[in-house]
Order: sequence, then structure tokens, then C-alpha cells
Amino acid sequence: MLPISALSALLAATLSLELANAHGVHNARAHHDIAKRQTTAVALAASTSSSAASAAATTSSAAASGASGATTAAPSGTSAATTAAAVSGTGSYNVPPLSAINSAMPSGATPTLSTTFSPGAQPTYSGAPVIPAKFIFSSADWPALDRIPPTDSDQVKEWMKELDGHDIPDITPTVDGECASDPQAAAQAQQRGWWTCGGWTSGNDIVACPEKNTWGVSFDDGPAPYSEKLLKYLDDHDLSATFFVVGSRVVSYPDILIAEYMAGHEISVHTWSHHPLTAMTNEQIVAELGWTRHAIQTVLGVTPTTMRPPFGDIDNRVRAISNAMGLRPIIWTTGPGGPFDTNDWRVPAGEHTGTESFATFESILGNASTMDTGFIVLEHDLFEITVDLAVGYTLDAALTHNPPFKLESIGECLSIPMNDMYHETATTDIVGANSTSDSTSSNSTSGSSSAASGNGATGLRLPSSAFVGVAAAAVAAVFAGSL
Ligand SMILES: *[C@@H]1O[C@H](CO)[C@@H](O)[C@H](O)[C@H]1NC(C)=O
Ligand SMILES: *[C@@H]1O[C@H](CO)[C@@H](O)[C@H](O)[C@H]1NC(C)=O
Ligand SMILES: *[C@@H]1O[C@H](CO)[C@@H](O)[C@H](O)[C@H]1NC(C)=O
Repeated sequence: MLPISALSALLAATLSLELANAHGVHNARAHHDIAKRQTTAVALAASTSSSAASAAATTSSAAASGASGATTAAPSGTSAATTAAAVSGTGSYNVPPLSAINSAMPSGATPTLSTTFSPGAQPTYSGAPVIPAKFIFSSADWPALDRIPPTDSDQVKEWMKELDGHDIPDITPTVDGECASDPQAAAQAQQRGWWTCGGWTSGNDIVACPEKNTWGVSFDDGPAPYSEKLLKYLDDHDLSATFFVVGSRVVSYPDILIAEYMAGHEISVHTWSHHPLTAMTNEQIVAELGWTRHAIQTVLGVTPTTMRPPFGDIDNRVRAISNAMGLRPIIWTTGPGGPFDTNDWRVPAGEHTGTESFATFESILGNASTMDTGFIVLEHDLFEITVDLAVGYTLDAALTHNPPFKLESIGECLSIPMNDMYHETATTDIVGANSTSDSTSSNSTSGSSSAASGNGATGLRLPSSAFVGVAAAAVAAVFAGSL
């Protein structure tokens, strides 16, 4: 199998080409169309796996034979070889100046894991099982990467039984998880408890840290090659975070997931394929959550008790299914002026600059310091760019803020002991501990979040999923060609 550096070189090279194509797209709708096209491209790549594999092999050997094996980003119309040397990062984390962080940024060296853990390694929290036997990916064991898994498998049929005895609301799936695509569902957003259109939350959703000036730090969409850079920063500063991981990335980068977990960070479910859950059937939602749970359990030996819906796209049906499967939803805070989304994912997409994303983050900190509770912010560790923004800028800004912020993982800020973050080690059922006992839960009608009804979520589309899909095609092709 190719070493991880070659894998990530391939991933980054593929991403940069796609991002170059996406460059210049400035509205969510068009962006969404790109997502659809790229989903098609992923399907094509998968269905012609032998040619995809040979194309991938060519690309990766080209990337690997490039200068020092470092990945070269390829902004359109520019020679990757000449730009690669142009910007080098500074400081102990090798982060470029803020003004150089944009979609044309050349890639830096892929970090290597400073510590790897063997099977049998012992996590430090109470009652934790040891790390299981080494994970070896076999495509026969898993659904296709980055696509909604089929629902006719024995596994999904078995997991469907977990809904028995639970009241799953009979809500029709949305068109594609976007308010604008589905005016009828949008008009019923409150009854549906649809977060995407109006910020509706309900029941036991976690949407903030209880204590004022406390930031529950989290990163979505990994594990990925640049997560290690973030892990080093968190370790150096003695910080813990919550990682919302995508199942398709978990089986692609198991050692990175283990490094996150063994460093004392929390691991939570962020679905298998990173598509909007409200647009899926009950069976598809079960498949998305079930396969991700299973991937994490296979690699770490534990099953999370929490989940985050991609794009925050949750309604009372998705909520009820998640809770029935033992997964308590966690979303990011809707503060004064809107949801706390750094828009970091828009930087690799060419829609925002690093400077703009950081300004958004500083505005979030300003708003957060006016709140009576703490807060949760959306950031990502999938891309080098988003990791650089966190490691070079946002985390430092929060640590040096006046008034000072306390940075904790989400479980930590809620005083949930680590053992209760996983089913195998839980002594208290945090999924069953609903809003009656959790003062941070709220629903917009209860008035805690007046901004929510004006939304702020409409601008919050679309995703990294377009790019994740492309990355996955590359990774899948490599696996297909090497196993
Ligand atoms: C919010 O709570 C009110 C009652 O407090 C309830 O009528 C309403 O349906 C809830 N909204 C959502 C979105 O769950
Ligand atoms: C909260 O939990 C209690 C007891 O477990 C239950 O009776 C109640 O219906 C739950 N409320 C919600 C909103 O889920
Ligand atoms: C912060 O709050 C202000 C005032 O409500 C608003 O204009 C701004 O968009 C908010 N910024 C963020 C990132 O939430």
C-alpha cells in the first residue's frame, strides 16, 4: 500500500485541481451544482475503478517524485513546481502569513505522526478498553467511500431494529437539506424542528457550553493528513478538542484517528458520506450513522455517544433516529447575528480569503463575549488551509482574547466525563439526559436565540462535501490499485 505521504499528496493534488475548477463560484446554489457534478464524478471514478486506479497511480507517482515528496498545489494556469517554493510558512507550526492563506496557497510538507500507537495501547481515562488489533482496510467490508450507503445490507437491517419502540416522527425528507430548494418544508421549519431553516433546536441537542466565556473547541470532517499539525498545537498548549469524524475518512486514516483519541481528544460521529441527513430516508440515516459508529468502534474499540449532523442539517426525525441509535446531537452555537461558522471551509473553495475567515472568527469572539453562556464554533481539520487558520490564527486569538476564554473540548465544557462520551465505558446515559436536566439546550421559541428565526443559516451552504467526494475518489482509487 502507498505510504500516507503519497496518499495525501494525491489527495491534495486532486483537491487543488477541483478547487481550481470551483474557483470563481460565489453563490451557494452554483456551489451546490458543483457538488452534484462532483458526486457524479465520484460515481464514475468508482465504476471505472481500474482506469481510475491507474490514473491515480500515475498521479501519485508524479507527486511522490516531486521535490522532497511534498505535495504541490496546482492553481489553475500556474506551474505547481514554481509556486511550491514561493510561500513557506513561519513559526513553529510552519503557517503562512494570513494574507497568503487562500485557495491558491501551495501545500506545505505533509506532517508525519509524531507518535503512533500499537494494538493494546491503553487510553488514560477510566475503564477504557485497549486499542484493538491493527485496522486493515478491505473494501469488501465497507460501503463505497463518500456515498450514502445502501440500505439493503444485513448490517443496516440489524441497526434499523434500534428504532423499535422509539417514536420517529413521520416527516417527509427535504429535497436536499437546503431551505431554498424546499419552500414547503421551510414553511414548516418550526414544526419540523429544522435547524437549517431558522436554527430550530429541540430536546437534548447540545448547542453551547454552559459557562460564559468558555469555547467548546471542535473540528469537523477529518481525520485527514493535516490533522497532525493541529494535534501538535493542541498538545503544546495542553488543550483538548472534539473531533467530528467522517466514517469514510476514519477507514482511510485510522492511525490519525487513533492519535487524536490517544491524545485525549473526544471522537464523535459525523456520518459516513457527509450528505444532508434531512434529505434521506430513515434507512439511509441509520446507514450513515451506523457505518460511522462501526468504523470508529473497529478502529478505537469504543462507540461515541454523540453526533454532529453535516451542515447542522437536523430536524425532529433525524434527531429521533440519532437518539434512538444512542447518539446525542451537537450543533454549533447560534449567537447574536447568526450561527458561529468561521467559513473556513469557504477558503479552500475559493469563496473567501483567509483574512476574511479570520475576521469572521474575531467577530464570533466579540459576539461570544456578550453571551451569558459559552459557545461552540464550526471549524474543520480536513484541509491544510483550515488547519493553518486554526493553528496560526483562531486558536491563538481565543487564547489571548480579552476577556480571556477558556478552551475545552465539548464534553469537558459540559462536565461530561470522558467515559460517558462512549457507550462501552459510560456510567451515565448522556443521550437520555434530555433538556429537562440540561440548561444549555434550547429551542428558538423559548426565546434564548432571537436571531434564529431570522435565520443566518441560509448563507451557510455548502460544504466541503464536494471536495471530500473528490478526495474520496482519489483515496478509493489508491486502495483499489494497491490492495
Ligand atoms: C419548542 O418548544 C415549544 C414549547 O416550549 C414547542 O411548542 C415547539 O414545538 C418546540 N419547537 C421545536 C422546534 O421543537
Ligand atoms: C426527558 O426525560 C424524561 C425522563 O427520562 C422523559 O419523561 C421526558 O419525556 C424527556 N423529555 C424530552 C423532551 O425528551
Ligand atoms: C456578530 O454580531 C453582530 C451584531 O449582531 C452581527 O452583525 C455579526 O454578523 C455577528 N458576527 C458573527 C460572526 O456572528
